[in-house]
Amino acid sequence: STPIIIDCDPGHDDVFAIWLAAASPEIDLRGITSVAGNGRIEHTTHNALVACTVAGIEGVPVARGAERPLVAELTPAEWIHGANALGGPELPEPTISLDERDAITLMRDLITESDEPITIVATGPLTNVALFVQQHPDLVGSIAQVVWMGGSTGRGNVSAYAEFNAWTDPESIAVVLDSGVDFTMVGLNISHQALITREVRSRIAAIGTRTATFGAELLEFFCSTYDAFENMPDGPLHDPITVAMLIDSAVATTVRTRIDVELEGSETRGATCVDLLDFLKRPANATVALDLDVDRFWGLIEDAVRKLA
Ligand code: BDR
Ligand code: CA
Repeated sequence: STPIIIDCDPGHDDVFAIWLAAASPEIDLRGITSVAGNGRIEHTTHNALVACTVAGIEGVPVARGAERPLVAELTPAEWIHGANALGGPELPEPTISLDERDAITLMRDLITESDEPITIVATGPLTNVALFVQQHPDLVGSIAQVVWMGGSTGRGNVSAYAEFNAWTDPESIAVVLDSGVDFTMVGLNISHQALITREVRSRIAAIGTRTATFGAELLEFFCSTYDAFENMPDGPLHDPITVAMLIDSAVATTVRTRIDVELEGSETRGATCVDLLDFLKRPANATVALDLDVDRFWGLIEDAVRKLA
């Protein structure tokens, strides 16, 4: 099975990425690191512990990461995820404790202790991953790949062309791309195909376990804020597509192409310029996910929730 570290900012959809990884035999979840994004680091770190507690995930170290982007100021996505980044359900007190190491140290230890390269699944701003490749350039070759939810081949969700994770820390994307690590982008163009329809919500609620009930409450809250702020009553479950692609490559079609991130644009800062038609004649530096097998994706999510506590 594929060894991974999830670097995340939970966040409703991040929680489902953690659950999908923990429940799937194809994935060996070695660690979870938190980053500031949807909420301040106190919240996203706490919420990672909550996600594990609810689902009965034990023995996976959880470490706290960067409290702010490399250059930009943090703007938590309270309008979508609520003031604690995990609005909706009542959050239980975590029964697992935080690892004493920081995120970069945990990543280093997991990567150096592993006898095979580890995949980093990043579902928030790329700050921790950028800090890791800056501080440990010698270990870039020991990362199998970075699969990141963020960016877009088209329009954005926080400005006309910038997606939230990209917009939060654009410099980190440039650092990670420049490192030469094998990089896959799962952007809004595909994540907006993973719509949490009313039918999906009721199928998950009907599972009836603690995890399913908590998950259904997360999805109700998330869809209500997406309805209010993005005009999408069936919100998109962005983050777990990354994990789903590692479980079953048939979940998404992909293309090798060029990504450059806009750092200067007066209206487009944080836009991921995906050069699908090769206008720039630059070498490809990434794999970009294009189309989702929607039924396969939701099948994996449902199966995962069913297996948890
Ligand atoms: C991304 O931003 C966050 O709100 C979600 O968790 C997801 O990672 C979508 O733009
Ligand atoms: Ca996220």
